[in-house]
Amino acid sequence: KETLIVDCDTGIDDALALLYLLRDPDVDIRAVTTVFGNIDAVTAADNTLRVLELAGRPDIPVAIGARDNWLGNAHFAPYVHGADGLGNTDLPAPTARPVAEPAAELIVRLARENPSTLHLLAVGPLTNLATAVLLEPELPGLVKHVTIMGGAIRHPGNATPAAEANISNDPEAARTVLTAGWPITLVPLDATMGERITEGHQRRLRETGTPVTAFAAQMLDQYFDFYEGNVFGDRSAACHDPLAAAIAVGDVSPVLAPVVAVDVETSQGPGRGATVADVRGQYRNFPAQDDAHVRVVLETGGDFAELLADRLCDDPTPTRR
Ligand code: BDR
Ligand code: CA
Repeated sequence: KETLIVDCDTGIDDALALLYLLRDPDVDIRAVTTVFGNIDAVTAADNTLRVLELAGRPDIPVAIGARDNWLGNAHFAPYVHGADGLGNTDLPAPTARPVAEPAAELIVRLARENPSTLHLLAVGPLTNLATAVLLEPELPGLVKHVTIMGGAIRHPGNATPAAEANISNDPEAARTVLTAGWPITLVPLDATMGERITEGHQRRLRETGTPVTAFAAQMLDQYFDFYEGNVFGDRSAACHDPLAAAIAVGDVSPVLAPVVAVDVETSQGPGRGATVADVRGQYRNFPAQDDAHVRVVLETGGDFAELLADRLCDDPTPTRR
């Protein structure tokens, strides 16, 4: 189906995205690379290894990447994802270790070894991908596709009024990646905020009672706390990273997704980190854009959380709990 490198800042929804992908035997995750964002990059790698081991995949290599953004002013989001990044769920410490190779070098090496094969799924700040492009300017021609969770086109930002968190965390890197010319699918807040996982799904996960579903249900407590207090006002949350994962592997087909050029605002003003996409053409018949190479997912069906819960609950070896 797809051969992926998943680049993430593991994080509650990053973990859900990994678990979602790991339940599909046709998806081949070649490596997971980590970046600062929800949590620091080293803890993100540790969290990733915990999640991979929970899912029975300690064999997947995990590489640590950027510990800071290009301007050196990174901050983390424990108020969203919990102090440990995984909703304070206390998964056992991993037995495997991250590989020594830095994330950007690993991405470049695997792309050179497997030209036109790899799909990069980026669900954190884009620092590792941008650094990889600087290391290997031919990278955009070596990769099959890039799917990114990030940005806010017609939807307000979440980190700032203008900017979504993954882009806001490193606008210069995001600009480098989004204008690099490779085929990109961008999954912004416009799509992800419309895909909500609810208490009903959480109940199902809890009742299914496998180690994976029990962990997912427990993480959702922290995620719902944040979303209830700061966003939706009820116990539900947006499926950001899992939706991008599902789109990357073809499980979800966008309802509305124009192919346009996207740039990123890198000024120090209030628009910093805004993703500027020329979506005027959806209203009128605009001339084709020369550098249009980003498929911007503006709408999906609204029932993705059902698929996410189905996938996580379909465990052949349930335990009692
Ligand atoms: C994005 O920011 C992070 O908090 C989430 O993991 C997701 O990748 C949503 O804005
Ligand atoms: Ca993320």
